[in-house]
Amino acid sequence: MVEVFAVASGKGGTGKTTSTLALGMALADEYDVTVIDADTGMANLLFHAGLDDAEPTLHDLLIEGTDVPVQQAVYERFGMSVVPCGTSLAGFQAADPGRLRNVVADLAADTDVLLLDSPAALDSKSAVLPVVLADRVVVVLQPTIPSLSDGLKVQEYARSYGTGTAGVLFNKVREGDDLDRVADRTEKYFDGPVLAGVPDSDAARAARRAGEPLLAHAPDDDAAAAFREAAAALTVRDGESGDVADRFRSAVVPESP
Ligand SMILES: Nc1ncnc2c1ncn2[C@@H]1O[C@H](COP(=O)(O)OP(=O)(O)OP(=O)(O)O)[C@@H](O)[C@H]1O
Ligand SMILES: [Mg+2]
Repeated sequence: MVEVFAVASGKGGTGKTTSTLALGMALADEYDVTVIDADTGMANLLFHAGLDDAEPTLHDLLIEGTDVPVQQAVYERFGMSVVPCGTSLAGFQAADPGRLRNVVADLAADTDVLLLDSPAALDSKSAVLPVVLADRVVVVLQPTIPSLSDGLKVQEYARSYGTGTAGVLFNKVREGDDLDRVADRTEKYFDGPVLAGVPDSDAARAARRAGEPLLAHAPDDDAAAAFREAAAALTVRDGESGDVADRFRSAVVPESP
């Protein structure tokens, strides 16, 4: 079985990478989880997972004519299989984003849940691919009414490629935010439920500085508990691995988003 989720948002800095690793660790209690840094232009998952010096990375797998086997860029960390991406501009420029299809297809053969940490914008071929390839998106937003329109754009784009919405995760919820009101609107306009409201938390920032996912760094923090709640609210569907792999390999990559 396998289901592929893109963790996406309309804006930068909402907490996609933090959420990808937190959901991954929570889901790893029950499933075989693989996490891929599919933000190939602005990769930073490696810094959140203590993989700063990892070599090879996803970039190496995306270079035309490469003979690096996919498994060499898979690192077993925090109970998950993690595929980090390099941060050099040269690596990004040499990478062919379309090759992500084959990488994801290979990895899908051997995991239950694939989480694609996705770029903030939907403005290039490499930026839209995770959303195009995924079964469903998890939309990570700040808990404000204006940010819902960013999320709705992601949902609309995803839907146009047959990608569903698994739910909306509100992150960095602060005292004074009217989460109930925002959640009401969300339930009305989004195809998936509100998965959780994750509080703004010093522990999340400290985890990033320490190079550890939040659930490893501060498992008892309220934000960690909220991410576990979000993971529990995600019902993973069991797509047949072979079908999923075939779908990836034959996915049409949009030339212009
Ligand atoms: N719940 C939270 N409370 C406080 N800080 C948080 C929380 N979640 C994430 N952060 C912090 O916000 C910053 C951005 O988080 P993260 O890198 O996960 O966002 P992102 O959406 O992946 O960003 P980008 O769009 O640049 O890829 C990081 O410093 C992270 O530690
Ligand atoms: Mg990120």
